Amino acid sequence: MEQIGAKPNLSANEGQEETIMPKTSTDVVDSSATPGASATPGGASGATPAITPAATPGATPGATPGASATPATKRSRSIAVLIGSFRKQAFTRSVAIAAMDALPEGYAPFIPHLDKLPLFNQDFDEEDTTPEEWKLFREQIAAAEAVLVVTPEYNRSFPAVLKNAIDIASRPPGHNLWTGKPAAVISVSPGRIGGALANQHIRQPLTFLGLRIMPAPELYVSDVPTLLDGEGLLTDEDSLRHIRKFIDAFAAWIERN
Ligand SMILES: Cc1cc2nc3c(=O)[nH]c(=O)nc-3n(C[C@H](O)[C@H](O)[C@H](O)COP(=O)(O)O)c2cc1C
Repeated sequence: MEQIGAKPNLSANEGQEETIMPKTSTDVVDSSATPGASATPGGASGATPAITPAATPGATPGATPGASATPATKRSRSIAVLIGSFRKQAFTRSVAIAAMDALPEGYAPFIPHLDKLPLFNQDFDEEDTTPEEWKLFREQIAAAEAVLVVTPEYNRSFPAVLKNAIDIASRPPGHNLWTGKPAAVISVSPGRIGGALANQHIRQPLTFLGLRIMPAPELYVSDVPTLLDGEGLLTDEDSLRHIRKFIDAFAAWIERN
């Protein structure tokens, strides 16, 4: 385990776990863009990946105020980035942006609008009243080649919004859309253990559903507020280095799986 942040404090098994502290991004890439939507190449500190305008019903650009639209660059592998907080100044989102930024050329991250998903109800599918938001999300997950989960910790687990999304794309029976997709998990917290329990908890349903979760390195971002600049961007160089290392490993994991 590695832990990144201004106040490293977690026990660390070198090369396995990382804890990071990013800076909140006001340039938030959002999207209900279709899977495969391309983003600008990441890399520059503070740069925000831009997602192409959503082409599917209900899609919105999704950038937070101040975000600039950047022409998208064609990328080959779409990665669904599931963010477990909708809060406007969410630390989790800041970390997600930094992680997306760290992706090498050839990857197209997009952020599904989990906040738009009605709570799971099996009746919707059985009575042919499946919400349009579910249909869109299922299309996005079906087309995604990999999944990156970035989660805060709620009451020593992961937030319900992520569980809802996981459940929706796992059904109806016989239509589990998660199976076989390479995945990685990042947890984020203002606290000292970097959301470690959320990180571990969410692996249980994801594993059950057949995602190929990268076992190591792990990434726990602790003391996250200390890693952000005044605009909420993750600019802490040490943290960015850890994020890049994690994302490089994830890219290699995707290629192997
Ligand atoms: C319902 C709830 C439960 C929480 N439980 C935990 C917890 O178990 N561990 C933790 O480190 N932080 C916990 N927190 C604090 C969150 O880490 C903090 O609110 C954080 O900013 C949430 O992530 P965000 O900034 O991306 O929204 C909890 C917050 C809420 C709202």
